Amino acid sequence: MLNVVVLVSGGGTNLQAVIDGVESGAVTNTRIAGVISNNAGAYALERARKHGIASKCVSPKMFASREEFNEKLTEAVGEMEPDLIVLAGFLVVIPPIMTAKYQNRIINIHPSLIPAFCGKGYYGLKVHEAALSRGVKVAGATVHFVDDGTDTGPIILQKAVDVEDGDTPEALQRRVMEQAEWKILPRAIDLIANGKVSVTDGRTEIRK
Ligand code: GAR
Repeated sequence: MLNVVVLVSGGGTNLQAVIDGVESGAVTNTRIAGVISNNAGAYALERARKHGIASKCVSPKMFASREEFNEKLTEAVGEMEPDLIVLAGFLVVIPPIMTAKYQNRIINIHPSLIPAFCGKGYYGLKVHEAALSRGVKVAGATVHFVDDGTDTGPIILQKAVDVEDGDTPEALQRRVMEQAEWKILPRAIDLIANGKVSVTDGRTEIRK
């Protein structure tokens, strides 16, 4: 059984997709051990509570320095004994102590087809604003392992989504979530839980 800890910052629709996947049996061999948010007001925490999943807030505001926050976050994650850490809209940079401790055991969902519109400053709605202002015709989402860079780790799954005439960033964000994110994040967890993903030289191999 893969013990999963989900890190969140906001609405938690991706967390919900993972919970639904586990509850429906679409995601197998997986248990959600806990949810941690950096934001006490995140609706994602409410979603966890509704499903009887342990949840906790660890906010930078609770500590005097970033170093202390990084330590406490790593400690809180460690207490839940994860086999896999899932960043589901977690908008905090993962500290190097954590990436070192959990090499190829942290995954992230990003709302673009990496390497487009990713890296520092590209998160949430900003990604879709940038895609629309560049005039792309195809958007999408990526699940990847997390390394020390921003959105640079090995890619696990990607799914493309059409941009439509008259799209607003909000409309495109919603379509990318519905058609890509909520599908590939649970699917990636299921693949990992069933030993189907390996990493060699910065690239993944997926056995289906
Ligand atoms: C999602 O679109 C996710 O891809 C994005 O934040 C949103 C969180 O929504 N993550 C990033 O931009 C990470 N760079 P949610 O809280 O409803 O899952």
